[in-house]
Amino acid sequence: MAQAVAAPHRRGFRSTLRTDRWWVEPALVFVSMSVFFGWLTISIFLDRWAYEIGPYLSPVFEPKLFGSNSSIFISPAMVVLLGPVPFRATCYYYRRAYYRSYFLSPPSCAVGDIGKTYKGEARLPLILQNLHRLFMYSALLFIPILWYGALHSFYNTKGEAEGISQGFGIGLGSVLLVLNAFLLMMYTFSCHSLRHFVGGGLDCFSCTKYTRTRKKLWDYVSIWNAQHRTWAWSSLIGIVLVDIYIRLVANEVITDPNTWKGF
Ligand code: FES
Repeated sequence: MAQAVAAPHRRGFRSTLRTDRWWVEPALVFVSMSVFFGWLTISIFLDRWAYEIGPYLSPVFEPKLFGSNSSIFISPAMVVLLGPVPFRATCYYYRRAYYRSYFLSPPSCAVGDIGKTYKGEARLPLILQNLHRLFMYSALLFIPILWYGALHSFYNTKGEAEGISQGFGIGLGSVLLVLNAFLLMMYTFSCHSLRHFVGGGLDCFSCTKYTRTRKKLWDYVSIWNAQHRTWAWSSLIGIVLVDIYIRLVANEVITDPNTWKGF
């Protein structure tokens, strides 16, 4: 009679039967998230280093509700704490990423957990992750705001600054702001919660015009949702690079090629 052969299994942190380099992805995510989210955190409070010039305003400060403040604890970019920051912090993709890379819980699929304390997201504090849907609503409000800032960057209503005269023009900064608005919009439109919001809870997709419309929307969001990780990273990298670019122009480190001055 055949004997069951026990798998060469051992328990404990990092124990696994995997033979691939499973640690590469969490390590890369750890470094990348530290760099990009680290910069954004610094940028929010770095309002003494110019972040706007002419029609360009760093997207980190959009919408700018008030001017630079003398306190290092208050920044014109604090409004992002109301929507974009908690929206990203509770994102399903980022949760997976930082649970693995920062909490090592578990560090990867089929790899031993660092501890036995993980109780899921059914109790405090992780139950608060369920607020993601509410943050999604507030993130939707930021999309037209970002597009307003991006389109407004083609029209300088302020006085001449660094050779950017008043009126209509096109600059590398305006193009980058449009790209940034697009990436952030796609990140929001590909959200899992939005997908459920537009198509969830229906028993019949084809029964009425209303449900058929929701099905169509759900189809679109499903296509975008399949690339949610890509949108998450591209929009994160995008906003950091655009913020740095506008700051470099505003602080006269580099010159923005644009039609106001002539290329
Ligand atoms: S799941 Fe990532 S933004 Fe909603």
